[in-house]
Amino acid sequence: MGKRAREITGLDVKDLIKDLDRAYCDEWLAYYAWWYMGQAVEGQGYEDMQEFLLDIAKDELEHATEVGERIIELGGLPTNIPTLWVKNSNGGYPGVMKDLSDYNEIIKIVTKAEAGAIDVYNAIAKKTFGKDHDTYQLAVHILGEEIGHEEKFENLIGKRK
Ligand SMILES: [Fe+2]
Ligand SMILES: [Fe+2]
Repeated sequence: MGKRAREITGLDVKDLIKDLDRAYCDEWLAYYAWWYMGQAVEGQGYEDMQEFLLDIAKDELEHATEVGERIIELGGLPTNIPTLWVKNSNGGYPGVMKDLSDYNEIIKIVTKAEAGAIDVYNAIAKKTFGKDHDTYQLAVHILGEEIGHEEKFENLIGKRK
C-alpha cells in the first residue's frame, strides 16, 4: 500500500494490521483444529461430520490466505512462527474433542470458536466501514462465511436432540 492509499484510509494502519494479525492467527488455529477433528472423528455416521469439518477447515485456510494478503498489502507481516499463533490470536486454540466420537463436544468447540470469529470480523468491519474499503469488503465477506459455519453446526445440535 502506497503513501496516498495509506493517507486516505483515515485509520491507524498499524493498529488495523494488529487486528488483522490476531484474526490471521485465529484462522490458522481454527483451520488446524477443524482439519484434525475431520481426520480423527469416529463413530456411527462419522462421514457426514468429517465432511462438515473438512469443508469449514478449507474455508479457514482460505481466510488465513486472504487476511495474510491484506496484512502484506497494508505494509505489515503476518505472524510467521506457528508457536506464536496462540499468543497472538484473539481466541486461543479452540482445542479438539477428547473422545473421537463425541459429536456434542465437537459441535460445542466449533460453535464457540465461530461465535468468536463473528465478533472479530464484525468489529473489523465496523472499524473499517467508510475508511478502508478493501479491508471492509474482506471483513464482510469472511463474516458471512463465519455466520454460515456457526449456523451449520448449530443446526446439527437441533438434529441431534
Ligand atoms: Fe475463518
Ligand atoms: Fe469459521
